[in-house]
Amino acid sequence: MALKQMTSQSDVPRILVVDDSTAVRRGLTKLLEPLGAETLEAADGGYGFDLAMRTSIDLVISDVDMPGLDGIELCRRLKANTATRALPVILHSSFSAESDIERGFKAGASAYVTKHESSARLLETVHRTLHRARFQQELSILVVDDSRTILRVVKTGLTEAGFHVETAPDGQAALDRLNDLTPDLILSDIDMPVMNGFELCEILRADAETRDIPFVVMSANSDRGTMKRMLQHGAAAYITKPFNVDELVILTERILSDQYRLLLKEKERLDFEQRLMLDSITSLISALEARDAYTRGHSEAVGRIVSGMVALSGADPKEVERATIGGRLHDIGKIGVRDAVLLKPGRLTDDEFNQIKQHPLIGATILASIESLADIRDIVLSHHERPDGKGYPNGLSGNRIPLTARMTAVADTFHALTSDRPYRKGMPLGKALDIIDDARETQLCPDCVDLFLAYLEKEACRGHEG
Ligand SMILES: [Fe+2]
Repeated sequence: MALKQMTSQSDVPRILVVDDSTAVRRGLTKLLEPLGAETLEAADGGYGFDLAMRTSIDLVISDVDMPGLDGIELCRRLKANTATRALPVILHSSFSAESDIERGFKAGASAYVTKHESSARLLETVHRTLHRARFQQELSILVVDDSRTILRVVKTGLTEAGFHVETAPDGQAALDRLNDLTPDLILSDIDMPVMNGFELCEILRADAETRDIPFVVMSANSDRGTMKRMLQHGAAAYITKPFNVDELVILTERILSDQYRLLLKEKERLDFEQRLMLDSITSLISALEARDAYTRGHSEAVGRIVSGMVALSGADPKEVERATIGGRLHDIGKIGVRDAVLLKPGRLTDDEFNQIKQHPLIGATILASIESLADIRDIVLSHHERPDGKGYPNGLSGNRIPLTARMTAVADTFHALTSDRPYRKGMPLGKALDIIDDARETQLCPDCVDLFLAYLEKEACRGHEG
């Protein structure tokens, strides 16, 4: 049975806890609760192995020192069995000598955490191990060899280890497969008909789309010169035939886990940049609102309404998040409008109004240098455009105005009408809705007004329920 049948494949991870101490098992079960995991318990290695064979499990956490089958032997048996070899095992033991830890890893454990270490460390290891195991299940490998026997043996070994495997009989066939497949790793022979491994490797390295796919050579040619040449061509590793398929699986896992670490680092860097960007946005909005106490909270409210409308329209969470940021930033260009104009209590002259009308352009210019906010510029630039073409700055009409900008216009109008200003009280809800309804077609997009009304109704229902 392959791994995919042996793992639970659901969002709730199933974790098997093996320890001869009832108190430790209960303690671990309690510790794992925040992960939303379902835990199963076994008091010894033998029962643990039976459970792993019979049930869908995503991770095993096992003690080492147990009567009967100990944790090391349990780990060895799980790794020796094709149905369970891809199941990650974390050894959790009071043995903390280097030699004990080494023995654990030799038996095939994914991680070793001593009982002297903190619960937070164990929890973090569980989280990371589960994440990595799931990641591995989504990985695909393309095996290229003109020998059917090699293709079959390698495919079986890698499939049992949990990878998705595709095959091709030569370099050209491998290139053809790449039209509809993006493997995470390519394992290739060198001497093949039609197109050999050298040519294949060279073509892949020259193409930006395939350049970063690790290329591992498996060849009967153990000549140092050939090996050097392949590695210089960009091959990630070289394994000589005949090889033990377990060796190949371990090599593959190692290369992919290095690749995984790089991806993880990249993700952390992107998350950090995203946080930095959100902090900058918050500072920009604070700078804007610090000048004008009466509009304080307006950006926040518009962001909340627009994101609610976008969510109601069935958009995915990413789009909802972008709409929140866009709504919050829609008036950011007002930073560039002089205080004497922006904060003037009385009626504005034509010249002053023209200065205010510059704020969408100023906002779009501020955001132009921030690559990650490119998709938000539309909202900032076009939130004062009108369906009848009488808006600014570009006089766009109808559907030529970007959809989220049209939604922002409705949210902006509604919040401006209903919130208190120094020179007037906020309008009652009914009156504000009448004005919005009258502005359909001319000032506001009718579909967006409908969406807004549906959003408001939903919020009202939620308020009543609450
Ligand atoms: Fe505005």
